[in-house]
Amino acid sequence: MNNINYNWNYPTTIWVGQNRIKDLSLACKKLNISKPLFVTDSELVKSNIVKKTLLDLKKENLSFETFSNVSGNPCGSHVEEGVNFFNQKKCDGVIAFGGGSGLDVGKAIAFMSGQNLPIWDFEDIGDNWTRANNDMISPIIAVPTTAGTGSETGRASVILDEKTGVKKIIFHPKFLPSIVILDPILTIDLPSNITAATGMDALAHNLEAYCAPGYHPMADGIALEGMRLIKNSLLNVVNDGSNIEARMNMLTASSMGSTAFQKGLGAIHSLSHPLNAQYNVHHGLSNAIFMPYVLTFNKTFIENRIILICEYLNMEKNFETFLNWILHLRKKLEIPHKITDIIDLKDINLDKLSKMALDDPSTSSNPRKLNINDMRIMYEHSISGELFK
Ligand SMILES: [Fe+2]
Repeated sequence: MNNINYNWNYPTTIWVGQNRIKDLSLACKKLNISKPLFVTDSELVKSNIVKKTLLDLKKENLSFETFSNVSGNPCGSHVEEGVNFFNQKKCDGVIAFGGGSGLDVGKAIAFMSGQNLPIWDFEDIGDNWTRANNDMISPIIAVPTTAGTGSETGRASVILDEKTGVKKIIFHPKFLPSIVILDPILTIDLPSNITAATGMDALAHNLEAYCAPGYHPMADGIALEGMRLIKNSLLNVVNDGSNIEARMNMLTASSMGSTAFQKGLGAIHSLSHPLNAQYNVHHGLSNAIFMPYVLTFNKTFIENRIILICEYLNMEKNFETFLNWILHLRKKLEIPHKITDIIDLKDINLDKLSKMALDDPSTSSNPRKLNINDMRIMYEHSISGELFK
């Protein structure tokens, strides 16, 4: 990759390039943030990339606070604690730094810092978001350190409600960060299993968005190119984590995935979210497991779309070729084939999971209309390992 910086302006301001993190204090200045809250997760805060980033902010004489009580699938209590800290320290903006959890909690803290209603009142249902006080949302800078969630270009955070055990999508248009920094150097220390799982999440976003029903050629175009970048780069980056060009392509494909899924997601995510919430399974890993089951279950409803994907990805134009590519990719990435490879069968409550999957917001945009029995059948197949014929 050449060492040129790029500035993109949709869906938001995105500063792209190797070592672009050096512009973080400039981003604060542009947004008139004089005291940011740096939000990251409890593991990443110990890493050299965070230490170096914070040291650079200090050198720029920027006053900031750090909040890192965030782990795994982020919960409402993480956000609440962060909001209290933000207000107590009189911060005026958020730097959300990390993988999905750091980004989602950081965005939610900036949003909730000036609201009077509880966070669950802003769940992505109907026009709930209009309840928010728009003038009290603090500016957000997002810096992803994984390539998967795409939360940096998303207008929502996924937060677990500990009381109900349900992952909820909290939405407001101003969740979209004002400035995003995409710097591939920040991702080179990611272990290969996380690179693989997060990369499969990015693939699931682009794939489900492209197959979701509805007229949205902009989202479709972005999703197709996102899948092409992933096809060309994911295995390379898992095999050689220091491949900067492939790291950059994966970061971009991740941002593209969440831009595209404004059109909708589907059953891969519907089946995945309950597993993430109930068993703390990595979101990208469960998406990767469910992908071939959902593809084959949806086959007659998506075959034409899949053939168009094959055409763009320069593959033989039929459904089986695409399916075999996914299966081959999963194998190369050492993704298990069945959910029982990662969860004990006796711990799986199919009634509960199927109900949660049906209620998931991603269900409504699955290409095939789904009922609770469909969810159960898909879970059963992902236990037996048998794809749909
Ligand atoms: Fe996802």
